[in-house]
Amino acid sequence: MSVSDEAKDGPGIVVLTGAGISKESGLATFRDADGIWAKHRIEDVATPEAYARDPERVLEFYNARRRGAVSDNVTPNAAHRALARLESEWPGPVTVVTQNIDDLHERAGTRNLIHMHGELLKARCTACSDVHDWRGDITLADACSTCGALGTLRPNVVWFGEMPMQMDEIGEVLAECALFVSIGTSGNVYPAAGFVQQVRMFGRAKTVELNLEPSEGATMFASSIYGPATEIVPAFIDDLLTAGPGGLTS
Ligand code: APR
Repeated sequence: MSVSDEAKDGPGIVVLTGAGISKESGLATFRDADGIWAKHRIEDVATPEAYARDPERVLEFYNARRRGAVSDNVTPNAAHRALARLESEWPGPVTVVTQNIDDLHERAGTRNLIHMHGELLKARCTACSDVHDWRGDITLADACSTCGALGTLRPNVVWFGEMPMQMDEIGEVLAECALFVSIGTSGNVYPAAGFVQQVRMFGRAKTVELNLEPSEGATMFASSIYGPATEIVPAFIDDLLTAGPGGLTS
């Protein structure tokens, strides 16, 4: 039974997600044996320097990932849907902070969502900074529809060495939450990997890791559940909603 936003005066929940939540939807992770960084070097395709040196190579790397993300057989899975249900039925604010640049959380129905590493399905003009929805390939032949500049469009994603997005909003919800849940991330990349420490500093929230296997930061979490996201996330959300806010204080 969904709870209206006005009635959400209960304890807040922050959920951090990583590539592992999208794996069973058919999208590759980064650091698994078959992951993206096993096939590409970060410094060749995911830094501002790489884009300056060889923009076409960087654009094609993201074009290939965008084609995958928009293909018909990539759809939200039971874990994405469970998080949308949590947001709808939990009697307090639920914020999903995702490192992922796919749109599977939105398509599953999550609304209160922060894409801290940007969005694959958006293009940003390096001349005027305007951001455009973009589902096709980005090439140097494309022009910005706002300023008309040619060849200035890049994926609206955060590269290594760049500042993640909406860090102020993220800091606010981490400070306020009563539950911090990390799902499908290896805990290798900061600042996301440090969120659990940030939450622990405030001394208020319960911390839970849901992953296929222990992450780099596993010991920082008060509890953990391991297994495929499509199995462990729906079960966890069912238990959380059944126990309600009282379950967070026990
Ligand atoms: N269910 C749950 N977890 C899974 C599954 C699954 N089916 N499959 C893999 N995992 C776990 C892996 O065990 C791993 O711990 O998901 C995690 C994925 O880790 P990474 O590949 O490192 O991805 P992520 O943590 O999201 O990377 C963070 O690094 O390269 C940058 O910008 C990129 O946002 C990315 C960031």
